[in-house]
Amino acid sequence: MGRNSKSKGLSRRQFITRAGTGAVGSYVLFPALGKAETKNLSDNDPQQKYLLGDNPLSLSVNGKNIKTKVRGNTTLVELLRDHLNLTGTKVACNNGECGSCSVLLDGKVVYSCHMLALDAQGKSVTTVEGLMDGNKLSVVQQAFIEKDGLQCGFCTPGQVMAATALLSKNPHPTKDEVKEGMSGNFCRCGAYPKIIDSVLTAAEKLNS
Ligand code: FES
Ligand code: FES
Repeated sequence: MGRNSKSKGLSRRQFITRAGTGAVGSYVLFPALGKAETKNLSDNDPQQKYLLGDNPLSLSVNGKNIKTKVRGNTTLVELLRDHLNLTGTKVACNNGECGSCSVLLDGKVVYSCHMLALDAQGKSVTTVEGLMDGNKLSVVQQAFIEKDGLQCGFCTPGQVMAATALLSKNPHPTKDEVKEGMSGNFCRCGAYPKIIDSVLTAAEKLNS
């Protein structure tokens, strides 16, 4: 497991327990409803103090302007999850190999475990929390639910982000183009057929 795979608010054991009760789908797809909210960073919080550094960082996250300081080795996913409490973005390999941590950087999908937070200086980051319009799911999120495009759900936020980027670039993908466009996102449960179906369904809805 990645070194920051245990979030502050939800241990892996709790995560699995929720999966067993069927609540995980809503947790990963509707993180904004799971109390994941952007917060102002405080130098007085000991945990934040440890994580914070001296390098000024200014960026937009889900439409909110964030000004903070980070250590030079803070990754983007650490900023999102540990500093901003945006835990919808998941960490699996923590090594730029699986796509679980995918977010959009100026509209392009990136592995947030594999880039430094400081490299997002002045840029716009969108996480799975930022896809919703209030309490309304995006078309892609809705399609994953309708087509059951998940099993355990751990890879799902990354899959949704990759699909969102793919469809913004190619609104009419063929099945092969979906396979290729989503090839940077692994699913350990092997839910690929339904994931592909979900992306094609989202494309249909977006074009109707
Ligand atoms: S967790 Fe970032 S690519 Fe696997
Ligand atoms: S749904 Fe379990 S890893 Fe993809």
